[in-house]
Amino acid sequence: MNSKVAELLVAQVNKEFYSAYLYLGISKYFQQNDLSGFASWYRAQAMEEQEHALKFYDYLLDNDQDVPLPAIEAVTAEYKTVLDAVKTADKHEHYITDEINKIYDAAVSAKDYRTQLFLNWFITEQEEEEKNSKDMISKVQLLGDKPKNLYLLDKELAARK
Ligand code: FEO
Repeated sequence: MNSKVAELLVAQVNKEFYSAYLYLGISKYFQQNDLSGFASWYRAQAMEEQEHALKFYDYLLDNDQDVPLPAIEAVTAEYKTVLDAVKTADKHEHYITDEINKIYDAAVSAKDYRTQLFLNWFITEQEEEEKNSKDMISKVQLLGDKPKNLYLLDKELAARK
């Protein structure tokens, strides 16, 4: 595998675990503010991010690449408002999309067709992730500033498996 492509894929393992950590922090913020539906939604998101990290990890190992496991950056789980927390998630998803695009660019430059194919799943996934985080902002903006509406939204989010 091209060394630049491998380096970016290795870095992405860490970024996806960081995403899991970020979402766990958001989940904790909601849990501590009595919004257990939001907390459970973001906790499910944290679990998904670990799956993303492991997809990169497995792909590297399956292609005979080493995967160093450096420290995951700490997160601060302090948010001023519900909107602040959901906007943080949205901003992060756009960042992750950019990072995946950078790996794709490197794979194209290196004529690494296998990695391009592997990344297709993530490109589709990021479209979904951005849609979900944008929808969440819209819901909170439409409904979230009244406690009764927030309660109803919290109940809706609790339904995510
Ligand atoms: Fe792994 Fe939310 O992107």
